[in-house]
Amino acid sequence: MKDNVTKFLQNNRQWLAEKQDIEPQYFQKLTTGQQPVALLLGCSDSRVSPAVVLGSDLGEIFVHRNIANVVAHSDMNFLSVLQYAVEVLGIEDVIVYGHYGCGGVKAAWEDDAIGLIDNWLAHIKDVIARHQAELDAIVDEHDRLDRLVELNVLAQIENLRQTSIYRKAMKAGKTLRLHAWVYDFASGKVNVLEPERMMSAA
Ligand code: CO
Repeated sequence: MKDNVTKFLQNNRQWLAEKQDIEPQYFQKLTTGQQPVALLLGCSDSRVSPAVVLGSDLGEIFVHRNIANVVAHSDMNFLSVLQYAVEVLGIEDVIVYGHYGCGGVKAAWEDDAIGLIDNWLAHIKDVIARHQAELDAIVDEHDRLDRLVELNVLAQIENLRQTSIYRKAMKAGKTLRLHAWVYDFASGKVNVLEPERMMSAA
């Protein structure tokens, strides 16, 4: 029976054969452990897959994804990922990887009641409330949502700074660089927000 996902299994067999052709020990090497260079928090959106967009290989980026790339201080799932990344894997770069055209951000702005997800989107409504005047001043709806996407990424960077994991790392004198990136799937380009702030660990 043909379905929509069988092709992925076929792709997988083809992909692994190609990898092994190029480097026979490729998979064997991955069994010895991982030393990723960055933790990336992205959106679940199917159009933004970080490994594809950033051209990373297996083992390079530790990834967590949720709707609208939110850092929630009660989210044990993300906090566990962050702690493991920083304290066990020794990762020094954390990327918040938002994207223009984010459906979660749009739904939060439009205040649509969808159900359970509304509770999650409330985190973005907090961002809206903090920047209401700036957002209201943007006439074009598209531009306004783009700006909200950026503000959301910056807000999540601030949320990262407030986590016990980040604070513990700073106290211990560890290096932890936070990067605010926004991907534009309409052009394929990743924009860096306020790079000068990202170099500071304080
Ligand atoms: Co999104």
